[in-house]
Amino acid sequence: CPKSSILLAAQRRRLDAALAPFLLAPDTLREVRDKMRAELEYGLKREAQGKATVKMLPTYVCGTPDGTEKGKFLALDLGGTNFRVLLVKIKSGRKRSVQMYNKIFAIPLEIMQGTGEELFDHIVQCIAEFLEYMGIKGACLPLGFTFSFPCRQASIDKGTLVGWTKGFKATDCEGEDVVDMLREAIRRRNEFDLDIVAVVNDTVGTMMTCGYEDPNCEIGLIAGTGSNVCYMEDMKNIEIVEGNEGKMCINTEWGAFGDNGCIDHIRTKYDREVDEGSLNPGKQRYEKMTSGMYLGEIVRQILIDLTKQGLLFRGHISESLRKRGIFETKFLSQIESDRLALLQVRRILQQLGLDSTCEDSIIVKEVCGVVSRRAARLCGAGLAAIVEKKRENRGVEHLQITVGVDGTLYKLHPHFSTVLRETVKELAPQCDVTFLLSEDGSGKGAALITAVAKRLHNIDKYLYAMRLSDETLLDVMARFRREMKNGLSRDFNPTAAVKMLPTFVRSIPDGSEKGDFIALDLGGSYFRILRVKVSHEKKQTVQMESEIYNTPEDIMHGSGTRLFDHVAECLGDFMEKQQIKDKKLPVGFTFSFPCRQTKLDEGILITWTKRFKASGVEGADVVKLLNKAIKKRGDYDADIMAVVNDTVGTMMTCGFDDQRCEVGLIIGTGTNACYMEEMRHIDLVEGDEGRMCINTEWGAFGDDGSLEDIRTEFDREIDRGSLNPGKQLFEKMVSGLYMGELVRLILVKMAKEGLLFEGRITPELLTKGKFETKHVSAIEKSKEGLNKAKEILTRLGVEPSHEDCIAVQHVCTIVSFRSANLVASTLGAILNQLRDNKGVGRLRTTVGVDGSLYKMHPQYARRLHKTTRRLVPDSEVRFLLSESGSGKGAAMVTAVAYRRTSSSWLHLFLPLQADQSGCCKFLSVF
Ligand code: G6P
Ligand code: G6P
Ligand code: BGC
Ligand code: BGC
Repeated sequence: CPKSSILLAAQRRRLDAALAPFLLAPDTLREVRDKMRAELEYGLKREAQGKATVKMLPTYVCGTPDGTEKGKFLALDLGGTNFRVLLVKIKSGRKRSVQMYNKIFAIPLEIMQGTGEELFDHIVQCIAEFLEYMGIKGACLPLGFTFSFPCRQASIDKGTLVGWTKGFKATDCEGEDVVDMLREAIRRRNEFDLDIVAVVNDTVGTMMTCGYEDPNCEIGLIAGTGSNVCYMEDMKNIEIVEGNEGKMCINTEWGAFGDNGCIDHIRTKYDREVDEGSLNPGKQRYEKMTSGMYLGEIVRQILIDLTKQGLLFRGHISESLRKRGIFETKFLSQIESDRLALLQVRRILQQLGLDSTCEDSIIVKEVCGVVSRRAARLCGAGLAAIVEKKRENRGVEHLQITVGVDGTLYKLHPHFSTVLRETVKELAPQCDVTFLLSEDGSGKGAALITAVAKRLHNIDKYLYAMRLSDETLLDVMARFRREMKNGLSRDFNPTAAVKMLPTFVRSIPDGSEKGDFIALDLGGSYFRILRVKVSHEKKQTVQMESEIYNTPEDIMHGSGTRLFDHVAECLGDFMEKQQIKDKKLPVGFTFSFPCRQTKLDEGILITWTKRFKASGVEGADVVKLLNKAIKKRGDYDADIMAVVNDTVGTMMTCGFDDQRCEVGLIIGTGTNACYMEEMRHIDLVEGDEGRMCINTEWGAFGDDGSLEDIRTEFDREIDRGSLNPGKQLFEKMVSGLYMGELVRLILVKMAKEGLLFEGRITPELLTKGKFETKHVSAIEKSKEGLNKAKEILTRLGVEPSHEDCIAVQHVCTIVSFRSANLVASTLGAILNQLRDNKGVGRLRTTVGVDGSLYKMHPQYARRLHKTTRRLVPDSEVRFLLSESGSGKGAAMVTAVAYRRTSSSWLHLFLPLQADQSGCCKFLSVF
């Protein structure tokens, strides 16, 4: 080509006019950045689900590699230029390394666009060849599946294809789980088995591949056949995923940016033509302006237009130019190379069947340059939005971050990466972005994810029996409903496991209570004595002062006399401190054990539960025992007016604030619930009018064998080692006294089987009670949880790896989740009973809740609420946390009881008026 080849002025003008829309001004780019940012934010919102164009898909990948991953894995890598099957061997520790063996397989066009079954059969055929080739056909290896299309995930091993992109269009796949399809195809072939552990997008695989080298890598970018980005987002910003702590990787699927028309003003007529001719018209509009699969097509459309205008190829549109897809990214990259002389450009065009002049080659080169530059600028604007978001998330002025990148466009194109980087710098000046090229593709990253997921998968399999499906939970709910019915009936009550004890409390507080009371609160984590003053000037107000007293184990396990002497002594001390020893204040006694009552001020202990085992109390009236102990002292007097269970105290405490409260729930050291039942259903108490609170004593659910199918070997072991074997079997699966120990037993067994701590077991780990429920709560805090796990396990003498900590956290989650789910089932039965009693379609009610497990565990309450609402959908349940314990509620009960007795002689003489305004109200309460 002669160097003097230059375009005529007229040609130049027309060429410039055609290419002008591709030159994006800085302001336009900033606008793109800001619109992308808005779409990212919107996609994270709950209300955007199914509506957002930038889908922001949670990936269930919650961390980047930390070097402790290890094992042998298979990886599939489908969706980019090449389909690859890989074997990845990862070593951890000081000699950490990753070895990879891979083979590329072709996927013919007719398979990419045939049926889903054909596609997955072909994939499995390729895996079979690879396994054969590597000589590992018999090994059922864990597999990580890089699937580079938008998938909605509910866990790491499930991915529902939202829609095909790029060159794929196989039928019957959209809306289906691709892992299931792969499993099915493996089953159809029936030659080998694989353990599919994770499905990951290529952006995520790339971020993990690069994250293995650089811990600062929290973004994965693909600029290849398609275009996409993923990044680590703060959990608290991801509305559709439970939990607020830590981070999760979000696959943005930004390729679809603009599908709602928001960047249509920068799309050219050539972009529209490319879109119309694509497999997915109207979709992936941003991707179609920025990725390798489409850039060549845009160039071709421009060339056709320029030829029509007589500016190119002597005005002749050749057969070759009509062929879709002739300009692959690699040709584009070659043509744009600075080192290439125009003559060589002509040669490339010739190879493509395009006969060109020198002027033609100049124009083609310029067209390619404009199109690829726009792509890099647009991609840079998008990436600027991401890094800016990361900067704001971290709350720093300057952000240093690494972006892991892969894709043929980024790797092969001579200018793309430079322009991209410059644009990010220009549009996100406060971010210092390092671009790290992924050398090993997404397969390595997928294997790293698989390594972590596999461990959790193993635990899941191991603790399979602890994961209860909704079907099982509904079944448990139905069983408990039957138990309730039995407990309420005169005939079945004597043999019923769930005792359904009448409490003689007939209503929640009505606002008229007043006076000065003492409340004793025995049976939970603390023994507390309170003074409760309820005054009733303009508004009812409650003043409380309290003291906590120790109850040493030898007293809990000694004689009943000693125990009640201790209670009486503490009460004496309290009255002394309050300077009320000379008064005979009414006392409400919260006694958190199953008691039979025939009146409010009587409580015959059926059996001790939890930590207590004092002799001579079972079968006796605890009010009498306490009175006796007080009399024996003789230094003060007390009038025990009511004995209430802690569930009842809690319902009353919460009822004080919310009139709708008709259930009291305890999830603490023990577990139990009470609720307001219709008198006509309570056979054991005379009368059919009104309601009475029933203390269900659901902790004993299962004591007749009705939960044997869901109890595990660990539950049996807990029971065997408890103070009351064979009793409170439901409580032992649920409550705080047992949860830590349950986890400890599981950890010991897992360690013995080599699944944890490299098989090391320490004397501390073998010691009963060394792992407490408060540790479960600490470990499940997702932000500091893993550090806490390390701290707690180190104190138990084991040297846990990071993986061990993740595994232990997972065990805790399974055990505490089971507890919340079981409580949701039994509570669901109570809610259904209330709904049926009221004869309403939809129940609106409040549940008063207390207990250390419910209050202290970071996730428990939310899980319980969620499962309850799922199991009882036709209800609107408010869970109201009792802020002031059962003491306040016990005082409320006492207030009414006191008023009734002290006014019993009086109201005989009172005129009817006074009776209506005062006494009748009390009488309606009890
Ligand atoms: C990665 C992967 C591919 C992926 C690709 C994107 O490294 O391993 O499966 O889809 O890069 O690049 P491409 O240009 O092939 O679409
Ligand atoms: C209530 C009470 C306690 C009761 C407890 C249950 O608020 O006042 O006496 O037994 O909560 O919780 P815990 O976790 O202490 O067993
Ligand atoms: C897909 C993404 C993928 C990207 C890069 C897009 O078409 O929707 O899931 O990450 O291509 O391969
Ligand atoms: C007791 C119940 C009590 C519950 C919660 C159980 O062990 O039997 O009476 O309500 O613990 O404290």
